[in-house]
Amino acid sequence: MNAVAIESLSKQYPGGKQALSHIDITLKQGEVFGFLGPNGAGKTTTVKILNGILTPSEGSCRVLGTDPVKNPEKVHALSGVVTEHAQMYDNLTGLQNLVFYGSVFGLTASESERRANTLLEELELTEAKDRKLAAYSTGMRQRLSLARALIHQPKVLFLDEPTSGLDPESAQNVNHLIRRLAEEAGITVFLCTHQLRYAQEICTRYGLIDRGKLLASGSLEELRAETSSRIAVKIRASRIPELLPCRKIGEQEFEIEIQSEKEIPRIVRQIVEDGGDIYQVNPRQPSLEDIYFTLTSKQKEAEE
Ligand SMILES: Nc1ncnc2c1ncn2[C@@H]1O[C@H](COP(=O)(O)OP(=O)(O)O)[C@@H](O)[C@H]1O
Ligand SMILES: [Mg+2]
Repeated sequence: MNAVAIESLSKQYPGGKQALSHIDITLKQGEVFGFLGPNGAGKTTTVKILNGILTPSEGSCRVLGTDPVKNPEKVHALSGVVTEHAQMYDNLTGLQNLVFYGSVFGLTASESERRANTLLEELELTEAKDRKLAAYSTGMRQRLSLARALIHQPKVLFLDEPTSGLDPESAQNVNHLIRRLAEEAGITVFLCTHQLRYAQEICTRYGLIDRGKLLASGSLEELRAETSSRIAVKIRASRIPELLPCRKIGEQEFEIEIQSEKEIPRIVRQIVEDGGDIYQVNPRQPSLEDIYFTLTSKQKEAEE
């Protein structure tokens, strides 16, 4: 069974805004899927539909085989959600908040407390657990919100911009935890973010969305192949033969674009045979950001 299956999903808001247009995505269990796109792309709308908060205008979706439109309670029991603005109680402590949400999910008081303490430890909140939420920083709230989403040991975790507003160190911690959850607990993660660099560190597959349309999906290798992105090779050498299509980028520094790493030995040989000394050769594979910009500019060209 797929962890998440989205079929030709569309959403038009009552005011007429088309937020999603025929999106197709499937997630296998245990995948960390990065749903990437700028603000307004349609990420939050998708997560809300998957959690039964919004109903789709067209198409359908399933979370572990369950339709959130027909059976939202079952989806809630199977999944955890971290939204951008998590609602928790300011006048309760971190621990009390978690114990409360544990009871909402049907855990006994002692189960709730045991589970809460484990999560507080993992998210480095043990010291703050008896402080009221009102005294928590944004980063601490964000981590507590992740703990809350995990209290009932969900099989699918939806994370909507979990690292936005976090300093780089807290963002790294959250990222490490997400990866560990997927690797050790086999949790499927549906991660929405516009921070492509963080995503590239932890995701196994991606879906790139812009203005409600899915531009592409797949692993990084698949996306690189699909966009036929080129590899930029930086070469530091005393001189470069004129016939090589190089761009001079600095003192004895050149850049050449190639299709495949297989072209590198030939380039190196040509430089040496021409009498050049080579100090450095650095190929750089296109990053998720490069791919994203390639895809969005293609989309714009197609629309014009
Ligand atoms: N309740 C709403 N009513 C009307 N339009 C909305 C509503 N919520 C979001 N939108 C619009 O739908 C589009 C997608 O929004 P959203 O799913 O929040 O994007 P993202 O999470 O990727 O930033 C945006 O253009 C947004 O303005
Ligand atoms: Mg959003």
